[in-house]
Amino acid sequence: MSSKTPFPPKLQYLSLGASCIAIAISTILVLLYTILYSQKCSQSFVPFNELKWSTSTDDMKFATNISHIKFILASSQKTLKSRKPYIESWWQPNGTRGNIFLDSPPPKDFLPWPSTYPPFQVNEDVKKLRVYPKLVVPAAVRMFRSILETFWLEDDQNVLGKYDHTKYHYTGMTSEAVKSNFDFSFDMAYGGAGYALSYSLVKTLVPIIDDCIERYPYLRVSDQLLSSCLADLGVDLTHVKGFHQIDLLGDISGLLSSHPQSPLLSLHHLDGINPIFPSKNQYESINHLMKAAKFDQSRLLQQSICYHKPTNWSFTVAWGYSAHVYETVMPRSLLRKPLETFQPFKKSARPPFYMFNTRLPWVDPSCQAAHAFFLVECSKVGDQIRIKIIVWG
Ligand SMILES: *[C@@H]1O[C@H](CO)[C@@H](O)[C@H](O)[C@H]1NC(C)=O
Ligand SMILES: *[C@@H]1O[C@H](CO)[C@@H](O)[C@H](O)[C@H]1NC(C)=O
Ligand SMILES: *[C@@H]1O[C@H](CO)[C@@H](O)[C@H](O)[C@H]1NC(C)=O
Repeated sequence: MSSKTPFPPKLQYLSLGASCIAIAISTILVLLYTILYSQKCSQSFVPFNELKWSTSTDDMKFATNISHIKFILASSQKTLKSRKPYIESWWQPNGTRGNIFLDSPPPKDFLPWPSTYPPFQVNEDVKKLRVYPKLVVPAAVRMFRSILETFWLEDDQNVLGKYDHTKYHYTGMTSEAVKSNFDFSFDMAYGGAGYALSYSLVKTLVPIIDDCIERYPYLRVSDQLLSSCLADLGVDLTHVKGFHQIDLLGDISGLLSSHPQSPLLSLHHLDGINPIFPSKNQYESINHLMKAAKFDQSRLLQQSICYHKPTNWSFTVAWGYSAHVYETVMPRSLLRKPLETFQPFKKSARPPFYMFNTRLPWVDPSCQAAHAFFLVECSKVGDQIRIKIIVWG
């Protein structure tokens, strides 16, 4: 069904919908869509280009930038307040575009609506849907329909006319937890982490959203609704490693310190884990990471590995976050595996827990123990970015 014409990457819809933000259902989201609004946006979008969102030379003139992305955040009145510092850490008034969808108008103590925040939109009442009596989780359907309600807001013929020749893209990532993927789907992008839909896909999806809801009234989460609906259109998920659902508990520094060489796009479930920097609280930690992001978002967290031959020491650096030092030579095949500093998301989970291999941290004084350092500050001297780190643990 997908169109064969080249896709000018003009407008992509990024829906951070779903169970996440979901807000009502789980703890939510926080999207560090850091990458998306850097000054070097076109560079940051290299991964999308690699996915061949853009094919003709004409398209190259219109490299995707932040103005082409519409963020859809599905939230609820109840969770609005606790998410605010997270959203403010990446939202750029007059830079990022989009809306935050709510189940009811914001409470009085949230008014006047902050200008540092995405404009709000109250979702339509799902009770008006014919299928409503059959819905198992009406809140999931409310959030899912934010895509459709966004489209209505945007439905300007002049805008649409320009984006006729496009392809279908559904990009996101599975959960880190085998159990989550088993329970929901291995073929679904997790809405807490966020996912991106190309404009043409949204355009095709919108008219059939309510039909999908009628077909799957028993689905409990909005991202499962979306992936089922897209599967029926013949569109499968393209995995992008930078989206992170963080279906994990405890200290995720081991995972973040072995981030693959893909731009960091999101971090979700931050309230369920330890702060990502020792000695800082949740909000401070995220703002601290974002300080490094301001210097170079495109490299944030990505792991580099090097060796110091005179001493036979190994070093791994997660850019803007941490550095690990080992007093021995350890092969990259080992060092790229995350240290299992975290615990499974669900007590009921059984091994294998994770969708990736891990290695156990060595706690004895053996040479294989990682000496962990964390970012203290970033500064720019001339053309060089200097990073100060501190040992921890
Ligand atoms: C983004 O791309 C549009 C063209 O589609 C251009 O007009 C605009 O200046 C670009 N913005 C940035 C920040 O590069
Ligand atoms: C956003 O732009 C409007 C109009 O250009 C301006 O009045 C407002 O102060 C800007 N807001 C911020 C937070 O920069
Ligand atoms: C480093 O490792 C090599 C190969 O095992 C060994 O020959 C050399 O002596 C080591 N150097 C130090 C400083 O330990």
